[in-house]
Amino acid sequence: MHGSIPVLKFQKSPLPLFSKEGTMPPFKKRDVRRDVTIQCHYGNETSYNTDMKKEKAIAEILRYHERTKHRQDRFAPGPGHMDWANEPVPFRFYENALTIRHPLLERDPEAAYVSLYKRSDSMPLPFTVTNVASMLELSMGLSAWKSYQGNTWALRMNPSSGNLHPTESYLVLPPLQERDNQGGVFHYNPYFHGLEQRATFEGEFWKEIRDHFGTDLFFIGLSSIHWRESWKYGERAFRYCNHDVGHAVACLGFSANLHGWKVLWLNALADRDIETMLGFDRTSWHAFEKEYPDLLLLVHNHKEKPKVFDIPPEIVSSFSSLSVKGSPNRLSKEHADWKIIEAVASATEKPRSPEPVINWNNSAYLIQSPVRPSAATIIRQRRSAQVFDAETAASRDVFFAVLDKTIPRQGCAPFDAGLGGVSVHLAVFVHRVTDLAQGLYMLVREHTALEDLKQKCRKEFLWQKAEGTPGALDLYLLERGDYREIAASISCHQDIAGDSAFSLGMIAKFRENIEKEPWLYRRLFWETGMIGQVLYLEAEAHGLRGTGMGCFFDDMMHRLLGLNDDSYQSLYHFTIGGALEDTRITTLPPYHHLEPQTGKNQ
Ligand SMILES: Cc1cc2nc3c(=O)[nH]c(=O)nc-3n(C[C@H](O)[C@H](O)[C@H](O)COP(=O)(O)O)c2cc1C
Repeated sequence: MHGSIPVLKFQKSPLPLFSKEGTMPPFKKRDVRRDVTIQCHYGNETSYNTDMKKEKAIAEILRYHERTKHRQDRFAPGPGHMDWANEPVPFRFYENALTIRHPLLERDPEAAYVSLYKRSDSMPLPFTVTNVASMLELSMGLSAWKSYQGNTWALRMNPSSGNLHPTESYLVLPPLQERDNQGGVFHYNPYFHGLEQRATFEGEFWKEIRDHFGTDLFFIGLSSIHWRESWKYGERAFRYCNHDVGHAVACLGFSANLHGWKVLWLNALADRDIETMLGFDRTSWHAFEKEYPDLLLLVHNHKEKPKVFDIPPEIVSSFSSLSVKGSPNRLSKEHADWKIIEAVASATEKPRSPEPVINWNNSAYLIQSPVRPSAATIIRQRRSAQVFDAETAASRDVFFAVLDKTIPRQGCAPFDAGLGGVSVHLAVFVHRVTDLAQGLYMLVREHTALEDLKQKCRKEFLWQKAEGTPGALDLYLLERGDYREIAASISCHQDIAGDSAFSLGMIAKFRENIEKEPWLYRRLFWETGMIGQVLYLEAEAHGLRGTGMGCFFDDMMHRLLGLNDDSYQSLYHFTIGGALEDTRITTLPPYHHLEPQTGKNQ
């Protein structure tokens, strides 16, 4: 099958039923951003500038971050209305590229939920096209279609702010036997559950890579289409794109575990290396729809460690000789030019860097995970709650178990993917947790940060170990009290932050990271996205439901904690509780729109 655009009516996203993004100010046409021109552009944008001086890059990032804070008296600059006529197509297709559809899983892996985190001793599956496809199905594939009053939209295993899905995934595959393929570079298209072939390896091309690493492996690249998010969220969109990357990395890490594989971030690579390997530098992007490289993951059999974790420049540059096939589909007719997004993307471009290796402690998880439902069932059933019942309480053990899973462990997904040390801690609003006082708590995800956090936060905070906390969990009561209204107000007046069992803000060590390496700005959001994905799955596993919240009043949260400077910043919020289902919405199977191949999930 060739990559032609399917005729579909799947736009008009899930908006009208509940306000999903908090109370946005009433839209008065044209009063929000007078400086934005909405026009039709043709041709390529200029590529971003890598030669930006570090000081300038730091200043640019701090400016971006400050400017894109939501405040009680004004939201970050955005379009202020839904320009439905230009809603970006949620799927990337490469026109005229060969598309190889893959069969869907006939039977999900039976592994228990805890196998998402811990690698079992069972034999890793071989690298076959079928197994690679099933890894993608359980991470970046579709999870359902939803339909309401003539509007239909797809949901995916990975969540995304506004369901806009700016994250695209690519594979660099060795020659794999079953399909007689020679290996090459592919784009994963979740709509078809297929791979679009962008480049083909000839002769000994792959052998050199395999010899370099000394083991069988393949790569997964992630990229972001900022326009998909900025169409709805304007300037704040760059933050959301990077949250989504973090969610995707965790999804891939979990799914890899179910195959006996491990994902590892190739942290030495520059963004430009990734562009070369994925063929982005040889692709004609439609204006404003360029894909920005995020990261490249190496996937290996967890029992056979590669001998190195970097790809030398000679191998990277050999990818330039591959001719790329297919043209990216056009996502919108017209675009708004959110210049600051390109500026911050440029300021956070990653150069080549040394490979940091982090070793975590390998203490056991504190609380036994539920055995049923299985890991794959939890992945498939994950959804964002839209409304909570304002009644359901989490038991104290469940609460501790959920928080404990956000602490990195050696040899456990998703945090051993090598995204670096802990920079993010959790300020938790406990609303309904049995046997635990309501109040504001802090989970210090790495003990060494405790003193610094105490110094920076409000002096009156108690910093008492939370009642009943298992020894190793660094959870502290800061202040008793009913924070339900405050939590909702901080989260752009979203009731889901107060009607839940608990909600939280992810507090990142900020300025020091940006000053060390400006591109770490993106990485901070990735870390929060990974934590978010753990929270989503943990909530499901314990019969609750979660929702990521990108919409919150940044400085209101900082004031509450007493953070007076930008040494720490709250980057992402999350809420978990007993969800109410909206029975007016119809759910359809994830691949019902395709002609049946094999498998149960059509
Ligand atoms: C980074 C991020 C930010 C989000 N922000 C909000 C939010 O502020 N409010 C909300 O109701 N949902 C929010 N969501 C949930 C998305 O709307 C949801 O993931 C999307 O509609 C897809 O639905 P699903 O998660 O059920 O697959 C967010 C999700 C992500 C990943």
